[in-house]
Amino acid sequence: MSDPYGAGHGPERTAAAFAAVYGGPPAGVWAAPGRVNLIGEHTDYNDGFVMPLALPHTTLAAAAPRADGRLRLHSGGVPEAGVIELRIAELAPTAAPRGAAARWATYPAGVAWAMREAGLAVGGADLHLDSTVPTGAGLSSSAALEVATAAALNDLYELGLAPQRLARLCQRAENAFVGVPCGIMDQTASACCTEGHALFLDTRLLTRRQVPFDLAAQGLRLLVVDTRVRHELADGAYANRRASCETAARALGVRALRDIPYVQLKSALADLGEDDRLRRRVRHVVTENRRVEEAVALLDVGEVRAVGPLLTAGHASCRDDFEVSCPELDLVVESANAAGALGARMTGAGFGGSAIVLVTEADAERIGQVVRDAFAAAGYRAPRVFPTLPSPGARRLA
Ligand code: GLA
Repeated sequence: MSDPYGAGHGPERTAAAFAAVYGGPPAGVWAAPGRVNLIGEHTDYNDGFVMPLALPHTTLAAAAPRADGRLRLHSGGVPEAGVIELRIAELAPTAAPRGAAARWATYPAGVAWAMREAGLAVGGADLHLDSTVPTGAGLSSSAALEVATAAALNDLYELGLAPQRLARLCQRAENAFVGVPCGIMDQTASACCTEGHALFLDTRLLTRRQVPFDLAAQGLRLLVVDTRVRHELADGAYANRRASCETAARALGVRALRDIPYVQLKSALADLGEDDRLRRRVRHVVTENRRVEEAVALLDVGEVRAVGPLLTAGHASCRDDFEVSCPELDLVVESANAAGALGARMTGAGFGGSAIVLVTEADAERIGQVVRDAFAAAGYRAPRVFPTLPSPGARRLA
């Protein structure tokens, strides 16, 4: 099964593209990956647990410092936007780059702004960015763009910031500069994941543990299925889910839903009274945190296959209790599981985007085809299916 998104690209090409745009070589090239989330969905803004892994698909940033305080941005993916030139001292959320073609530039500009807002001595820079992370597929292309920029500026200006700090600055950029109320998972995954592992992250304490996730050794594969469904509604629905969780936490007298232990779920649901929708939102978050802990315990003892049913249970909870799935994601899960997958679920915010499917190596091709056939039979657009492996987080390549 080949990868329709072609994960591989190299620092040489990105450095050459930088030189063609700016007339000289970059000072370096940095990479930051996209991610899938193995389990722990819509838990990060509830101070809960998540367990993402990095994709082999990356955003590469070739960059050089500038002494004149200008920030120049160019994207290999959006060449029609040309070189976007900004003044680093004038960056402000209210003065973000305008226009559809320049929207991509709000992410790197936001990162420079967030670093300066935090009092860090970041000056001007030239940046050229290339990416193989599928955009709009729920695979965190935005986080990859932010983290690649942050890693470049961190080194160019010798800030010495640790990966988790870079992730926080990127989340700040996305929340306050780009205007997306995301949690901390995607940026942390891009900055902190390591090859061969899933990252167990406590999003309140920001404590992290690399949990071995060795698919190959167990004869397993993780398929990513990009449904290619992009829902316009997604932003509003995401904010709405966040608001419901905050309302429920207030009603229950806790700082965040993370503070409701699984053993107290029943009494918490009783305390919420008649509001069935709010009760289902809470049940999702509390049971999902529990599923992450169970998945960690299984992976710690090498029981990778046994994680499958937790994935499927997580999907049902996203679908029925949190209501963030869609018919195409449900069809991936149903068709793959009916064909003998070990487990499957939507990954990321939902409302379209991608699903993951855990399969044996022997079944990978067949189950991928079953999902494609199911989409064709339902009259849906053909999905993109590719196998993935837990890959390295952000790093300097050259
Ligand atoms: C998006 C957000 C994350 C997280 C997920 C849902 O990917 O960026 O912070 O909330 O949705 O788990």
